[in-house]
Amino acid sequence: MHLERIAVLGSTGSIGTSGLDVIAKSPGRFKVCALSTNINIKLLKAQVERFKPEAVCIGEIKGNEERWGKTRVYKGETGLLKMLEDVKIDTVLVGISGSSALSPVLKALDSVKKMALANKEALVMAGSVIMSKAAKNNITIVPVDSEHSAIFQCIGAGNRKDLKKIFLTGSGGPLLKVKKSRFRDITVKQALNHPRWKMGKKISVDSATMMNKGLEVIEAAWLFNMEIKDIEILIHPEAVIHSMVEFIDGAMLAQMAVCDMRVPIQYALTYPERTDSGIRSLEFSKIKNLSFYKPDFRRFPCMGLAYYAGKKGGTFPSVLNASNEVAVKEFIEGRVKFIDIPRVIEKVLGFHKGVDDPGLGDILEADRWARVKTKEIFKCYR
Ligand SMILES: NC(=O)c1ccc[n+]([C@@H]2O[C@H](COP(=O)([O-])OP(=O)(O)OC[C@H]3O[C@@H](n4cnc5c(N)ncnc54)[C@H](OP(=O)(O)O)[C@@H]3O)[C@@H](O)[C@H]2O)c1
Repeated sequence: MHLERIAVLGSTGSIGTSGLDVIAKSPGRFKVCALSTNINIKLLKAQVERFKPEAVCIGEIKGNEERWGKTRVYKGETGLLKMLEDVKIDTVLVGISGSSALSPVLKALDSVKKMALANKEALVMAGSVIMSKAAKNNITIVPVDSEHSAIFQCIGAGNRKDLKKIFLTGSGGPLLKVKKSRFRDITVKQALNHPRWKMGKKISVDSATMMNKGLEVIEAAWLFNMEIKDIEILIHPEAVIHSMVEFIDGAMLAQMAVCDMRVPIQYALTYPERTDSGIRSLEFSKIKNLSFYKPDFRRFPCMGLAYYAGKKGGTFPSVLNASNEVAVKEFIEGRVKFIDIPRVIEKVLGFHKGVDDPGLGDILEADRWARVKTKEIFKCYR
């Protein structure tokens, strides 16, 4: 029997571990052939024991082992690209966080058959490059982000040409009910305390600033070939509906499920099939209310910055993403305040002279420039 050969990139993270959980619960369907981590060697070793992949890659270049038993060990950024070249992979699950996912995504698009893409930063930076390469090589990108998985599933019930609008829902994050006057004192712990989802640190802070929703707007624009103006964010605190679409005849479709990332991960891995997940069902009789609000762009200016960058296009989304990555890291490491995140990103976007129709080189240069500029501006804040 043919087993689908799967690589899980970022296997030690929140998406990666949930992905391996889904795989472990589908015996006889998948063969894990490659895994990767940045620094979490302990967990990677445990995953190797369990899944026996042919190869693994560790981001940090430390030690000189070339094998762990029968598993080949690659190292560093170039090692990851080499692993993707050497190992035969049918489906790749991309759970690496941040812009570091861009090169492996592009490399994987040379050879895989299907990409289950959780990472959003690579698409925000270089959506045109990624989507055109996937189309040229006839590779299906199935989104893993719960909202985009919902939209993908809803669109699949109709024709893309008849799509009118996307409603991207969001629970509102941990600060939905916190007064703006208290934002100045938001701690890292508060920002990481998401009410609905358990996720990595970067995406959790993005959820607190609501930059996450902004990045998702740009991500949706690339995945579904939509104009930014036709993608509307709706705050939906109950997080029952994971997003909706409207077709030209006025029909609206929504996708619902419990808040468990294993649902969209499994859908992406088994697509176009569906298989039994064993995950509990929504209990409608226990849902008291489904509410929807327009987002508050004054309290959460990151969303407005993302709409601005998305509408400007070119290298602006790359600058937005890079500046945000630096700002979030500075906040997590305690060097700047929560409210400084949108302030600095706005300044950096204001300084940027964009390039229209950028190639990969322009995108990477904009990313580099934005990181330097963000750090330079932050020096004045300390
Ligand atoms: N978590 C969710 O529920 C969720 C939902 C939707 C979308 N996403 C998206 O999925 C991506 C992953 O999110 P996450 O929450 O799973 O993040 P995470 O828990 O922080 O995990 C990130 C993974 O990537 C690895 N990694 C980090 N930096 C790397 C680098 N420079 N090179 C190679 N590998 C690197 C990490 O290795 P170490 O363990 O060694 O650090 C880890 O395995 C993000 O783009 C996020 O926006 C996540």
